[in-house]
Amino acid sequence: MTKKLLFLLDTDSVPSVFDTVVGYDGGADHVVGYGGVTTENVGALVDGTIYTRGPKEKQYTAIFVGGGSMVAGESLFKVVKKRFFSNFRVSVMLDSNGSNTTAAAGVALLAKAKSLASKKAVVLAGTGPVGMRAAAMLHIEGAEVAITSRQKSRADEASKAIKDRFGFAPTPIEAVDNTARAAAVKGAQVVFAAGAIGVPLLDEKDWQNDPTIELIADCNAQPPLGVGGVEAVDKAKERHGKIVIGALGLGGLKLKLHRECIGQMFTSADQVFDCENIYAQAKVLA
Ligand SMILES: NC(=O)c1ccc[n+]([C@@H]2O[C@H](COP(=O)([O-])OP(=O)(O)OC[C@H]3O[C@@H](n4cnc5c(N)ncnc54)[C@H](OP(=O)(O)O)[C@@H]3O)[C@@H](O)[C@H]2O)c1
Repeated sequence: MTKKLLFLLDTDSVPSVFDTVVGYDGGADHVVGYGGVTTENVGALVDGTIYTRGPKEKQYTAIFVGGGSMVAGESLFKVVKKRFFSNFRVSVMLDSNGSNTTAAAGVALLAKAKSLASKKAVVLAGTGPVGMRAAAMLHIEGAEVAITSRQKSRADEASKAIKDRFGFAPTPIEAVDNTARAAAVKGAQVVFAAGAIGVPLLDEKDWQNDPTIELIADCNAQPPLGVGGVEAVDKAKERHGKIVIGALGLGGLKLKLHRECIGQMFTSADQVFDCENIYAQAKVLA
């Protein structure tokens, strides 16, 4: 039986343990991680995947692009795909820091709870991989999207990167602290918190009596959580009249989706998993 090999190409210096574990749980027999992978040094790694197995066995080799930078991940993903030609290709997935799968789980659960069309959505700390993809998926649902950052220049850069990839630019907002983020969510119906692990972004008092906020998702599982008053295990739970989703509430779907995509990569050699089709799968699984 041909072994299922998953090559983890990580833009960070050390390949992700999380993505390694999920690679095995998704069905790989071996997960081989490479750190510090760049657009300059990736060529030989890709060649190793496409020239080693015959047409019938190629589906058992797959590539996963990860790492902490969405922009670096997107560039690497592009170069990997460009290296393929005719049937010298393997299936490939982009999920920098769990960006696509985490955002997809969160947004799909929000969309399942209520239509997001024409709603105002604010992605708090929307400059990281998860926030940038959440902005794109909220846009796919028809929401009007803004992203916050502690620095205007970072919000501008992330908005431009999203425009380059998806053709729309979320409104960039500078919000230096919880008070500024409370002001940023005024008038919005949807709040998606995508801040770094263990960083509180919004206090409970700033959303519990808000007249417009209807839906809140928070991706951060490590206390203190991103949004005060949301429990990590909340899954479309009603709190103060709003529907809230915590990091563990969306984490189950994220893991299911991540494993599912890994498993599907080994069913043919030509699959490409990125934002749009990962989000479509999340909606089926949600
Ligand atoms: N629930 C799940 O299944 C699951 C899976 C994967 C990831 N996650 C979580 O999803 C969240 C987002 O992941 P990510 O990789 O996109 O995040 P990230 O890149 O580490 O951080 C996102 C943004 O947080 C902001 N930030 C950093 N330190 C901050 C501070 N002290 N105060 C305020 N803002 C701060 C930064 O924005 P600015 O510098 O622009 O302000 C940064 O761009 C994380 O909490 C991660 O743990 C959850």
